[in-house]
Amino acid sequence: MSIAEKFVSMEYGPAPEDSKEAVAWIERHGYRFQHFIGGGWQTPAAGEYFDTVDPSNGERLASVAQGSAADIDAAVKAAGAASSGWRALTPHSRARYLYAIARLVQKHSRLLAVLETMDNGKPIRESRDIDIPLVARHFYHHAGWAQLLEQEFPDYVPCGVVGQIIPWNFPLLMLAWKIAPALATGNTVILKPAEFTPLTALVFAEICQEAGLPAGVVNIVTGDGATGEALVKHPGVDKIAFTGSTEVGRAIRAATAATHKRLSLELGGKSPFIVFEDADLDSTVEGLVDGIWFNQGQVCCAGSRLLMQESIAEALIAKVQDRMSTLRIGAPLDKAIDIGAIVAKVQLDRIRKLVDQGVADGATCWQPQVTLPARGFYYPPTLLSNVHPTSIVAQQEIFGPVLAAMTFRTPAEAVELANNTVYGLAACVWSESVNVALHVAAQLKAGVVWVNCTNLFDASCGFGGYRESGYGREGGREGLLEYMEAAWFKNAPALPAEKHAPPEAEPDEESTDSDLNIPASIPDIDRTVKLYIGGKQARPDSGYSIEVRAADGRLLGEAPLGNRKDIRNAVEAARKAAAWAKATAHNRAQVLYYSAENLSQRSDEIAHRLAAVVGEKQAAAEVDLSIERIFSYAAWADKFDGAVHNPPFRNIAIAMNEAIGTVGVICPREAPLLGLLSLVMPALAVGNTVIAVPSEAYPLITGDLYQLFDTSDLPGGALNIVTGYTSQLLKALAEHDDVDAIWCFGDEANAAAAKAMSAGNLKQVWTNEGRAIDWFNPKLAEGRWFLEHSTQVKNIWVPYGE
Ligand code: NAI
Repeated sequence: MSIAEKFVSMEYGPAPEDSKEAVAWIERHGYRFQHFIGGGWQTPAAGEYFDTVDPSNGERLASVAQGSAADIDAAVKAAGAASSGWRALTPHSRARYLYAIARLVQKHSRLLAVLETMDNGKPIRESRDIDIPLVARHFYHHAGWAQLLEQEFPDYVPCGVVGQIIPWNFPLLMLAWKIAPALATGNTVILKPAEFTPLTALVFAEICQEAGLPAGVVNIVTGDGATGEALVKHPGVDKIAFTGSTEVGRAIRAATAATHKRLSLELGGKSPFIVFEDADLDSTVEGLVDGIWFNQGQVCCAGSRLLMQESIAEALIAKVQDRMSTLRIGAPLDKAIDIGAIVAKVQLDRIRKLVDQGVADGATCWQPQVTLPARGFYYPPTLLSNVHPTSIVAQQEIFGPVLAAMTFRTPAEAVELANNTVYGLAACVWSESVNVALHVAAQLKAGVVWVNCTNLFDASCGFGGYRESGYGREGGREGLLEYMEAAWFKNAPALPAEKHAPPEAEPDEESTDSDLNIPASIPDIDRTVKLYIGGKQARPDSGYSIEVRAADGRLLGEAPLGNRKDIRNAVEAARKAAAWAKATAHNRAQVLYYSAENLSQRSDEIAHRLAAVVGEKQAAAEVDLSIERIFSYAAWADKFDGAVHNPPFRNIAIAMNEAIGTVGVICPREAPLLGLLSLVMPALAVGNTVIAVPSEAYPLITGDLYQLFDTSDLPGGALNIVTGYTSQLLKALAEHDDVDAIWCFGDEANAAAAKAMSAGNLKQVWTNEGRAIDWFNPKLAEGRWFLEHSTQVKNIWVPYGE
């Protein structure tokens, strides 16, 4: 074809990126890679290897060591041996290493980009312009945190040895998200790359050598799920950071429940892309291209559900189809390709199967006329319309270039549809009205909301999910906290084991609360209390009560034996009281101050009763400090602000501290009043609703508390109190899908049970790890640590500036 003819047809010519250097690098390693352990290459103990394949043509690139439990053990030992030396370095020294790594990533950026594209199938345009620059940015940003660490986090220590497991969709970027904060905070690392994409992690191992990083600080063990499992289960690991599927995240939660391993999970998503009728539709379409066709849609936060306001749906779909027809799909090393290859045959099959199921559910499938390359794993950009909100393609993560479109009429309907998912990773809102966009953003259950933009990431901004999209944040100050612990807490002594009640029998659904055997009044018994549900005193479903005795064995009174049904009622009441989160912070502070005032008025009688169980001295201290603690959280209510991050784009990211929702709190046994208020108050201060299970030693405190809150204008249902056997009520709370977080402050067995039983819907779990907390020391028992667990951060990205 002559140049003149080309001008007429405007056909793209081939523009392949040169793969010579990357191939030479693989060749230098003899097409076979070992593990990187203790600063050098180690052959796998079992001598096994697996192939990594170029998905653009199905050809083998190299073989890579398959990590066994023995390899993981060697790596954990190397990381353990390096730990004390690495953490003893000055922050400046660690900053220098991270800075050196950032510089080397830039120096080798072309090799990294080409190799990433060959191993993963993503377009070179993306690996070159997005993945690798962001990798360097993460190491620069965290070099800064390493430098500032002691000034900004003076009382924190690193977790220790950290196991990190990453997926294949952004191989080197996920490595950077994990390794940079871990090293900056003084941890040593064992990283397991995904089996489909191990190669750039191995270049990174060489970068660590080139930077002179001390041996054992970073170890890379390649392998599949079994290798990951061995890492998760290794007793020498202090923390697991995982990115991948929700299913594996759940398995990891369960596998680590009986240990003290810290855990952060970044899991799947089904993120809504909401378009209002006043949106700039042309920009929206470009946003959508980035939202769902970036990286072939293999993005955890992909805008995979298009929610359109009905009035513009037709026009938008027409524009989307026009734009889809111009997307170029083909060899990912071609610089003018928009959509590359799917990472592996098994993922391609998965996409096909889900789309077929969506069509069988009634969706209409539209794909542009494209010719797919003859070899390799490709899937065309796909639009599914007329999707029913309950269809599998509206609910399940497809992880491919497939958009499921639905319509809505009003903003309220948009929010309802958007939140109609078990996930909560990200969302996009497109509207020219700042009021509409921010009003909707505030109501979305998602860790990241992009307003009039999409898929923006930066090292300075936290990223992570709500609900079954996981917990913990990566990036910025929020992310650092995942890799450190308060020094005092790490060294706190263990609590003695509690006597645990037998598991609860399933309650009789027909039972009513009228057949109680709680006596209205019996001589010699001081007090009989009830449950506190929805702002009212309630009799327990079981009709039974438990005796409460003083330290000297004297009968003090009876407390209701709450069961699963009472917990269900309490959760329902708590959900109904969700408006508490919408009360202004000033308003919540006023209610808290008022309850402190009321406690102060009743302090003598409450202390007198409490004294029978904990002694006069402790009782007086509990009451005095409780008044102070409530004041503290009333003070915090309007001061636990978020932040405004400054990513290097024309955006700001507003990091909001949002209430988690409904929190179930198992209160400490040893300080019945002060322990309960130390946990309940921070949760309430930021707008959560709470179901508290008071100390089994003195559940009668409930009677004092409901009198207190009834007279303090706390809306009914914001705080509910259910007494009974801790282990039974913990189970009921942890297994309830409408409880968003479990806090469990008891012995070690309860901490493990809380984690194991919360795996079902991956609710956030916070425990004392069975350790003693000095509730009487305000430096340890109140403040930011409690507020951080009471909130989750939502980053709202808003275009800003010129
Ligand atoms: P996966 O969750 O199985 O793999 C992610 C990582 O976890 C890999 O390194 C893998 O080797 C490791 N792994 C697997 N089983 C493990 C175990 N029991 N213990 C410890 N580590 C384990 O994801 P997979 O199979 O590659 O993809 C399946 C689906 O998961 C995708 O179609 C997508 O829907 C979702 N996914 C979501 C990702 C996200 O970023 N949210 C990333 C990758 C997959």
